[in-house]
Amino acid sequence: MIFVTGGAGFIGSNFVLDWIEQFDEPLINLDKLTYAGNLENLTSLQNNPRYTFIQGDLGDRELLDRLLNQYKPRAVLHFAAESHVDRSIHGPEDFIQTNIIGTFRLLESACTFWRYLDQPEKSRFRFLHVSTDEVYGTLSKTDLPFTEVNPYQPNSPYSASKAASDHLVRAWHHTYGLPVLTTNCSNNYGPYHFPEKLIPLMIVNALAGKALPVYGDGLQVRDWLYVKDHCKAIHRVLESGKPGETYNIGGWNEKTNIEIVRTICSILDRLRPKVDNSRYDAQISYVADRPGHDRRYAIDASKIERELGWRPDETFETGILKTVEWYLAHPEWIVNIQNGSYRNWINKNYEARS
Ligand code: NAD
Ligand code: DAU
Repeated sequence: MIFVTGGAGFIGSNFVLDWIEQFDEPLINLDKLTYAGNLENLTSLQNNPRYTFIQGDLGDRELLDRLLNQYKPRAVLHFAAESHVDRSIHGPEDFIQTNIIGTFRLLESACTFWRYLDQPEKSRFRFLHVSTDEVYGTLSKTDLPFTEVNPYQPNSPYSASKAASDHLVRAWHHTYGLPVLTTNCSNNYGPYHFPEKLIPLMIVNALAGKALPVYGDGLQVRDWLYVKDHCKAIHRVLESGKPGETYNIGGWNEKTNIEIVRTICSILDRLRPKVDNSRYDAQISYVADRPGHDRRYAIDASKIERELGWRPDETFETGILKTVEWYLAHPEWIVNIQNGSYRNWINKNYEARS
């Protein structure tokens, strides 16, 4: 049994779906179902006996203790977080509560559970913390990509809260011996990505004939990784990573934001040409920059390749095509988010179970 937090979000739901498809081992998913949690992503698992969903908050220590003692997982995989940089700028409070206090509560609960395990379960137990490359701060054009020994220099409330959580995880290993693993990953994209982030927002807005808002000069660089590759990397770290170590995960795919937006537009021109034959890139609109906007992120993912044999399977070209195709094939998923009805899936889910 593995215990996942945040499994109704973008990366978490991809991970949960892949896990249940590939392995017999049961999985329990604890998720608060904030605006970013979408049970519609997981409807295919509704009656699967290997999958259990619990709606709950990381901050609820009593619930965490009860679940860990009841299900006795061999690992905790911690995806749950407030994850959107722009939201953290407008309202940092939830980021502090979930990313810092929530991670602290989960560490405390996991550590208490782990401490009283008998061998060999105790040596086998892992706490895997899913984190971000943003903790390292920003790079100039000529800087080398981030390695695991780069100093932490977070610049946004989001990245500062994730950095704090990474430090807590590290301290619970060094002080209490909790067998932790930390992954710091670059920008993900793929199915079930909430349309507030760059790639899904551009696809959804383009199809709706709306403006494609590019912040500042659009020349900021991100290193893009197809979400399924991230899920495979997390699995590899869980099975073979060394407790106390951190692993950078990235796609070796540095692109400027404007390149990304233009690529999406040209795929849509081909797959869903507009009736008036105009081009999607005519919808591009440069808007005010994000405050404190990090200029460039790039991950050096050679440690995980060298030590654990992981490398991404997708190139950006194959991954972005699959992603656009997924959004074109799932218009109802987009509509349910836009009209808010995705939030009713908790009721539908419980109805289906009773
Ligand atoms: P997301 O925002 O799509 O999903 C977060 C999930 O966590 C949601 O289902 C939400 O309901 C849940 N959640 C939020 N607060 C909670 C709480 N207090 N208790 C329980 N559940 C709660 O996020 P994502 O993009 O899937 O990211 C997952 C993790 O990966 C995060 O830790 C993020 O920092 C990290 N990460 C994301 C990316 C990326 O590009 N998206 C890249 C690197 C690392
Ligand atoms: O690097 C990993 C991080 O990537 C994760 O830790 C975060 O959870 C995830 O949200 C993501 O953060 P970014 O801020 O890089 O992602 P976002 O999709 O919000 O923005 C990507 C880039 O695109 C960034 O430079 C800002 C820009 N942008 C974004 C939006 C939403 C635009 O130009 N216009 C937009 O409308």
